Amino acid sequence: MNDSVQKNQDYKKFVVDNRLQYFKPHATKIEKSFAEEVYSSLNRNSKFIHPKFFYDKKGSELFEQICSLPEYYPTRTEESILRKLQSQLSEFLDDEYRLVELGSGSAVKTRLLLDVFSKLQDRVEYFPIDISEILAESSEQLLQNYKNLTITGIIDTYEGGLEFLKTYDAKKNLIIFLGSSFGNFSPVDGYKFLETVYSTMKTGDLFLIGLDLVKDTTILESAYDDSQGITAKFNLNVLSRINDELDADFNLKNFEHHSLYNENDQRIEMYLKSLSEQSVVISKSNLVLKLKQDELIHTEYSHKYRLSQIHDLLDDVGFELKHTWLDDKKHFSLTLVSKN
Ligand code: AVJ
Repeated sequence: MNDSVQKNQDYKKFVVDNRLQYFKPHATKIEKSFAEEVYSSLNRNSKFIHPKFFYDKKGSELFEQICSLPEYYPTRTEESILRKLQSQLSEFLDDEYRLVELGSGSAVKTRLLLDVFSKLQDRVEYFPIDISEILAESSEQLLQNYKNLTITGIIDTYEGGLEFLKTYDAKKNLIIFLGSSFGNFSPVDGYKFLETVYSTMKTGDLFLIGLDLVKDTTILESAYDDSQGITAKFNLNVLSRINDELDADFNLKNFEHHSLYNENDQRIEMYLKSLSEQSVVISKSNLVLKLKQDELIHTEYSHKYRLSQIHDLLDDVGFELKHTWLDDKKHFSLTLVSKN
């Protein structure tokens, strides 16, 4: 990332070559630091650590492992639905579209959509929006496999990336948000987020969202507490990250992965349980954390939906429903909506 560096509003443009460029916020946004967020979310009665902190290098690797666990059905199920959708998506793409992805990650599922775009269009444009610079690696690989592809990466928050897109140009966008990542939001924040997506979109733009569905509790609970203990490692890893980055002394042996399905609120809840009364020093947050035996630190919600709830939610925001695709077991859903 060097060559030409140009300014575009609040973003700096980094041109790698004629098929790959990045935009990064020009001025670092006023955002609370990791140390400050950890301080305010742990220095309280009901303690939590935000799930976005799971994804350091180790955490991202563990998440990739989770995706191929026998118990973790969402990834492979969503992939199977995307394969079904491949032959039907063209019906909804009546013009040149750009593919925009919120949280692109390893971009494996993205390929299934790029395959469709490549068949329909001579040139394909892909805009991954991700807070992490790892999008650079997956982009390089995509360019090798798709010769007609150009990539513009936006290294920013979802909200920042969407704001960028809003004023970018008049070309139509298909925005995708896969993996039921939306399920991490609380209902209130999720609704606001969808409103942001909606307000970003132009008439004719499309939005495809992958959401996990309500199902048998045992299936749900084993997906988030697998027999190989990878999900437990993933959850506990956030404490190692705090140890490393914030000079803390969490002893991981004094904590346990704890997850359950809350039927009422239709969500998996993940916690780290303190196995003894203990105190932990988090130097860079200026905090001595005191925990009781069995006290829980909340780390993640993963909401599950009923089809009617998905449709009502999207309808309330103002979207027009185009189609919902499901797998045979009705475990997962992909819903396409438009803004008219
Ligand atoms: C990436 C947020 C969709 O909630 O299923 C997997 C994260 N946490 N196992 C999910 C996760 C534990 C995942 N999301």
